[in-house]
Amino acid sequence: MSTHTRNITPTFLRQMKQMGKKIACLTVYDASFARILEESGVEVLLVGDSLGMVIQGYSSTLPVTMDSMVYHTSCVARGVQHSLLVADLPFLSYTTPAQAIESAGRLMAAGAHMVKLEGGIVLAEIVRCLSQWGIPVCAHLGLLPQSVHKLGGYRVQGRSAEQATEILDSAKKLEEAGADLLIVECVPALLGQQLAAVLKIPVIGIGAGPKCDGQVLVLYDLLGIALGKRPKFTKNFLSGNDGIQDAVLAFVAEVKASLFPGSDHSFS
Ligand code: KIV
Repeated sequence: MSTHTRNITPTFLRQMKQMGKKIACLTVYDASFARILEESGVEVLLVGDSLGMVIQGYSSTLPVTMDSMVYHTSCVARGVQHSLLVADLPFLSYTTPAQAIESAGRLMAAGAHMVKLEGGIVLAEIVRCLSQWGIPVCAHLGLLPQSVHKLGGYRVQGRSAEQATEILDSAKKLEEAGADLLIVECVPALLGQQLAAVLKIPVIGIGAGPKCDGQVLVLYDLLGIALGKRPKFTKNFLSGNDGIQDAVLAFVAEVKASLFPGSDHSFS
């Protein structure tokens, strides 16, 4: 049984933004967790390519294949009734409009309602093309895990005025091209706030401060079971809560009440 009484659509998320209602989003990779998340009131379920790290044990998302994304998207789709299911286009699967359409088509056929891609202005044409063919798009700016080697590591982005302006300009161009949602990762809280203020589409933050229109976490970080170093912006909601569903409910409640992220989980 889902707590959503209607399907969560891009239009519904925009209405939530307009009404000042915060959006809860979590990554998920299988049907059982998908059901728990949906029953806990999580509006957006993201089949992230973070599955390469938390499920498959790689040290980055780069080795994740299209086949893996299709497999996990179809698993999640079977556990979901009303939540919006977003699936990541993996590394180098959207380098041209034609390739992006083919890759996105596979994810949509597996049950995704929207696809996500990482990058700035250079992706505007691809976003426009996907959008024109009826495929909803979530853009991803700030820290781009698929570009980790180019960025020189997993570090906060948009700290200089020049970088912040570049991210803001990219966001506006991607919205103009037809993006329906933006995820912004690991940027100063002020930049997260500015993005949410200038865009009409909802901005969902991860390590982007409390003023975004919603928050996303990697599910395994929320449960405190992710491998490797725990980034500052994550929080173990299982600690102090009675089981997995209570942990997810606590995350949703803190997001809705603007209690998460606090300053100890944000960058200034
Ligand atoms: O792959 C993923 O899980 C993501 C989140 C970090 C937003 O892109």
